[in-house]
Amino acid sequence: MASKVELRAELKVLLKERDAFMIAHNYQRDEVQEAADLTGDSLALSQAAAESDASVIVFCGVHFMAESAAILAPEKKIILPRMDAGCPMADMITAEELAIEKAKRPGVPVVAYVNTSAAVKAQSDICCTSANAARVVDSVEADSVYMIPDRNLSQYVSRQTDKKMEWWDGFCVTHDMLTPEEVTKARSDNPGAVFVCHPECAPDVVEMADYVCSTSGMYKYARETEATTIIVGTEMGILYRLEKENPDKKFILPSESLICPNMKLTTLEDVVVSLREMTNVVRVDEEIRLKAVASLERMLAVPREY
Ligand code: 13P
Ligand code: SF4
Repeated sequence: MASKVELRAELKVLLKERDAFMIAHNYQRDEVQEAADLTGDSLALSQAAAESDASVIVFCGVHFMAESAAILAPEKKIILPRMDAGCPMADMITAEELAIEKAKRPGVPVVAYVNTSAAVKAQSDICCTSANAARVVDSVEADSVYMIPDRNLSQYVSRQTDKKMEWWDGFCVTHDMLTPEEVTKARSDNPGAVFVCHPECAPDVVEMADYVCSTSGMYKYARETEATTIIVGTEMGILYRLEKENPDKKFILPSESLICPNMKLTTLEDVVVSLREMTNVVRVDEEIRLKAVASLERMLAVPREY
């Protein structure tokens, strides 16, 4: 087996040879984040993939993310190093199930969290991420919206908008597991600590937070807060950059279950192999892509929340 140093060396050569740009989500393994040209949240990575001049994008994340990049940048080859890296939340609603919900609410726009399949995006009016969800909902010209698939993000947004909202009952299996008791325990173990959390957490956890934001929002918050101990309510991959960028601050994970197995599938070796062999190229049916791209582009026209 090649060593990490050998893999990094081969990766560097391959990225150049293939005219490839490597991007990694904030939840990826440390070794993957370390080797990436760019790390970020779902929104930043989709935008970077679309704007990059490279002909190949190696997308280290989960399937819906690489698929979003393939929708936005059809002229590029989008490689997902592990095709089995999916998102259980995205699998909680199908295009058929959405069609049934739409039929019950004629004329009500559908706001789809990017954690959805291309076929579901194709049936939605506009996409959103955790970095722009409330703004996206407010941007819709209707008094009510139907939001999919995350009940927790939807409930969080419903408290920030005057629009009437209904939503699908999906959730992130990782974030939804964090309990108020775990946060209370982390707080009592770390007096003076602040608690920042992702809106995919359950409402009773979100209610306890000093600040609620997307993964990239957490980097900004960690930099700017005067607190020196920060309890982090999101997937543990976030710690890599938080600790690197804030060596004088302490980051606490309130639960050992804050780990997304799908995000952890991709290794440095998978990245090298997929790029060497040019395998795992994500493709989207053109008819679906054309409809899905409209939902994503409407979202990209809405500014981020910070
Ligand atoms: P963001 O990176 O957009 O905050 O999303 C978190 C997430 O769960 C992605 O799967
Ligand atoms: Fe999906 Fe949750 Fe994993 Fe994100 S952290 S990829 S929402 S299961």
